Amino acid sequence: MNTTASALHTDGMTVRHLDVDISQGFPIYWNNNDAYRSQLLNALSFMFPVGEQFFIDSVRHYAQDVAAQGDTQLAQDIKHFAGQEATHRHLHQQYNDFLVAKGYTPWVEEALKRVIRLTRFFSPLSKLAITVCYEHFTAILGDGLLRHPSWSEGMAPTMRTIWLWHAAEESEHKAVAFDTYRAMHGGYGRLRAFYLLISLEFLVYAFVQSTIMLLKDGQFFKRQTWGSALRFWLGREGILWHTAPHWLAFLKPGFHPWQHDNRALVARWRAEFANAYRPLTPQTTRSPA
Ligand SMILES: [Fe+2]
Ligand SMILES: [Fe+2]
Repeated sequence: MNTTASALHTDGMTVRHLDVDISQGFPIYWNNNDAYRSQLLNALSFMFPVGEQFFIDSVRHYAQDVAAQGDTQLAQDIKHFAGQEATHRHLHQQYNDFLVAKGYTPWVEEALKRVIRLTRFFSPLSKLAITVCYEHFTAILGDGLLRHPSWSEGMAPTMRTIWLWHAAEESEHKAVAFDTYRAMHGGYGRLRAFYLLISLEFLVYAFVQSTIMLLKDGQFFKRQTWGSALRFWLGREGILWHTAPHWLAFLKPGFHPWQHDNRALVARWRAEFANAYRPLTPQTTRSPA
């Protein structure tokens, strides 16, 4: 795999305690008061706790090997990666518990658990490759949330804080699984094969889970719902226009997540939300290589 991208990296990360309280719940249509936009992101939330535990396990599996190679920076990044994903899991579990209490079925959670059970037959490197793919999706979505004000400006304030925090941290740690995969000499062939498969799986899962929720609400067959979906995907700043080039970039030879340098977006988030979180670990920094 191409190593010239090793000069590209995050400008540091920390694990944060986010100062929000959703123990009393939140309005279901918290995103722009819009059924489609809210339930699509609620569907993603149902995927996070199970998926993120898998990511933590698959990257941590190599923590000792990375340290043994003498890459103390990556070993440190793995610790922060695991810490960030653990806090995401914790908050999204609270989030999801509220949705379940409101009567929504977390179909996708069970579907993911079944797939993860199947991966016990996979090698640790294949599990890491799967994580690299998912981390690219979360990085793409995170970048979109940080970049396009229209994606988040209609959110209820607490939910906006949660989603932008998650978006910023997914950007901060977007290369950790990738760099670990590369350090373990993982090849691009395996990565690309999983990428195509998982892209399809991710789309299907998000569609089915959001459909289940919209059907429960009696919103699925409403023209308003699909008008919103069209605008969200194909409108100005539509998610499709944002996602397509980043999705394709992964397939280019020599790809590295930091070839798309969005550190300025993360820095803007840190400045805007400095009072919304408490760092739990010292902020790591990296000087340009
Ligand atoms: Fe996460
Ligand atoms: Fe992540």
